[in-house]
Amino acid sequence: MASGAKFVIFSALNAILDPGDEVIIPSPYWVSYPTMVELAHGVPKLITCGFEQEFKLTAMQLQSAITSKTKALLLNSPSNPTGAEYSREELKSLAKVLDANPNIAVISDDIYNQLSFNEQGLSPHILNVAPHLFDRCISINGVSKAYSMTGWRIGWAVGPQEVIKAMGSYQSQTTGAPCSISQWASVAAIKGCYDEVVKSLVFLKERKQLFTQLLEDIPGLVPFSPQGAFYLWVGLPDWLGKSYRGEILRDSRQVAEKLLEDQKLAVVPGLEFGLEAYLRFSFAASEEDLKRAAQRLVQFHSELS
Ligand SMILES: Cc1ncc(COP(=O)(O)O)c(C=O)c1O
Repeated sequence: MASGAKFVIFSALNAILDPGDEVIIPSPYWVSYPTMVELAHGVPKLITCGFEQEFKLTAMQLQSAITSKTKALLLNSPSNPTGAEYSREELKSLAKVLDANPNIAVISDDIYNQLSFNEQGLSPHILNVAPHLFDRCISINGVSKAYSMTGWRIGWAVGPQEVIKAMGSYQSQTTGAPCSISQWASVAAIKGCYDEVVKSLVFLKERKQLFTQLLEDIPGLVPFSPQGAFYLWVGLPDWLGKSYRGEILRDSRQVAEKLLEDQKLAVVPGLEFGLEAYLRFSFAASEEDLKRAAQRLVQFHSELS
């Protein structure tokens, strides 16, 4: 356990990596992964997973990314930024590749796994389909997302004893235990507030649908339908290269900047997640705010030429 899943992931990387070890990261990825790997003296091996494969790593890609230096695969399902969720079949095919490569660990960042829009309200996990990987799988979770307790800063890992022990040693010299009030609040949330998670899933599904429909109606925006989490990953097939108030929009960073400055709309450019020509929106907002956001995008689009 540590103050948030973020530091838990970083501890896991520090516990398992030797200098020069490679970590396979499907791209688009959560912004912090590559830098965390570098700070732990590893080498991020970014594998582009585009729209045609629903932004998910295939077994074939995994196989060809593996070298003698590969130490770990970092999985995040549902994903930040795309909301893409790996199916049991997809996880099985990744596990098959891992079976043939016994020295590769899996770091499974499960922080959004209870915010799945599937019938069970829980994303499939690689250990569901390949339980024999337990002795090399580090599963990471926390209360930030499903329990909306971001500020309480509680995250944890479950995994092989020697790795968890090494993470503990690493943490004992780099940080202290998270605040005990937060720890007890998290216990109370996990034991007694599952109904609240179910309720927020209902809202999130409705908002996903509403925001997707609103954005689909805006020319040049192509939302990808997420299977979990609370992000809408939106393609910009023909906004880039257009002129906006006398400037050519070069990249997603510039589009995000203009949306923030002129429309007071906060979005994250795809470039930050390793894939260009996309923007990431959050739909963890009220219906009213989502409608206002869409109106501002319509206004922005009306000024493109
Ligand atoms: C994919 C992913 N992993 C981990 C985290 C970190 O969560 P925590 O707030 O528990 O540090 C985030 C937060 O944005 C995230 O999106």
